[in-house]
Amino acid sequence: MKFSFGRPSLAIATGLIVWLTSVALTAGQAPQGPRPQMSEEAFKNIQVLKGIPVDEFMGTMGLFSAALSVCCAECHTGAGTSNPKWEDDPPRKRTARRMVQMVAAINRDNFNGRQVVTCWTCHRGSQSPLVTPPLDKMYGDPVVEPPDILARAASGEPTVDEIFDKYVQALGGAARLANLTSYVAKGTSTPFGDVGKGYPTEIYAKAPNQLATIVHQHEGDMARTFDGREGYFKLPLTVVEEYPWTGGALEGARLDAEFAFPARIKDFLTNWRVSFSTTINGVDVRVVQGTGASGLVATLYFDKASGLLVRMVRYSNSAVGRVPTQLDFSDYRPVAGVMMPFKWSYSWLSGRDDFALTDVQPNIAIDPARFGKPVAAVRPPR
Ligand code: HEC
Ligand code: HEC
Repeated sequence: MKFSFGRPSLAIATGLIVWLTSVALTAGQAPQGPRPQMSEEAFKNIQVLKGIPVDEFMGTMGLFSAALSVCCAECHTGAGTSNPKWEDDPPRKRTARRMVQMVAAINRDNFNGRQVVTCWTCHRGSQSPLVTPPLDKMYGDPVVEPPDILARAASGEPTVDEIFDKYVQALGGAARLANLTSYVAKGTSTPFGDVGKGYPTEIYAKAPNQLATIVHQHEGDMARTFDGREGYFKLPLTVVEEYPWTGGALEGARLDAEFAFPARIKDFLTNWRVSFSTTINGVDVRVVQGTGASGLVATLYFDKASGLLVRMVRYSNSAVGRVPTQLDFSDYRPVAGVMMPFKWSYSWLSGRDDFALTDVQPNIAIDPARFGKPVAAVRPPR
């Protein structure tokens, strides 16, 4: 059965993109990467989440798990064992499939196909959504959970330009930023909940926007790469070991890479707007949000006092709602006169890793293969 999520038809949309790409190519633009593998080509038993690329499909699985606070094994036979049967249809998985259809129908019939109801709307981390408002919640401390898309502040906030100018000054100024053109960093990455020393980690970065993060985990290497055009993700022992990012997730990978050399970050997104100031862990922050061409939405939080970036939350679209990624930056130190975060945490639906750098070598030559497909990028240096 072919299913539409309130978008026109995914198949038609995909055809349109291919057509638009060929038109764009004749107009002399950069060629797009190879067509990504679609869910129904990569997997065996896809009935409702058809016509979406593998990276988006894995995002939907992350959203399901987060919405119900369950692990993959709650819906999939043998997940987490050496013999997973992802294509099997146990009862909870069949319920989830029905829920996908229900949610699509709710959005289509009531909200003009806008994706305003998602699994999270009802489930909020529970398998059985609540029926009755808990009175303690009504009279307890309010928990503020801001929406993804923030309101523009009417007044009382600086302009977007003022916030970005202060950021560039805080980093060391435009001249110093322009003189940093590459770096290789070493450090560790510690998965959420792990009390060990962390896995050895290497970061390669080349201006304007190439970035590779390689973590030598026990089971094999995790890698995120972006070569200025294409981005890949590799994780050992998972369903699809390596896949390319597409759409808003690809824009997100590019945004991460742009932040390695942030002088021109303002040009990267459009529709910038300043929202109301808030606090993160007791620090007063300015809030700026921008939008990308492929559906990326990014919210940047700048320390009011120092001007430095303390958090970035970015969202890409998926068939069942926005997929969030959050980076929290701290411990800024100068490298070749440019302030660089020596610690950050990278949170996404499938985990959180705390990175800590021990050594950064500025302005050194890097093999271009590092930024390409991870299989090539993670091979030992020649
Ligand atoms: C709430 C239930 C639920 C959870 C939790 C869940 N899935 Fe799924 N999964 C589904 C459903 C439903 C489908 C079938 C989608 C369809 O028919 O289009 C599916 C399909 C799949 C498939 C395709 C199998 C095939 O060959 O057809 C893979 C792979 C997969 N899931 C991986 C995962 C991973 C990895 C996780 C954990 C991060 C996960 N799933 C968590 C419900 C779930
Ligand atoms: C409009 C509200 C609503 C939305 C939206 C919704 N659900 Fe549900 N879901 C429910 C309710 C209510 C139940 C419990 C029904 C019951 O108790 O019989 C449920 C039950 C489930 C169950 C069975 C849990 C169990 O105990 O075995 C799964 C799995 C599930 N939902 C997955 C999803 C997924 C995946 C999405 C998003 C695609 C989703 N739901 C969206 C309301 C919703």
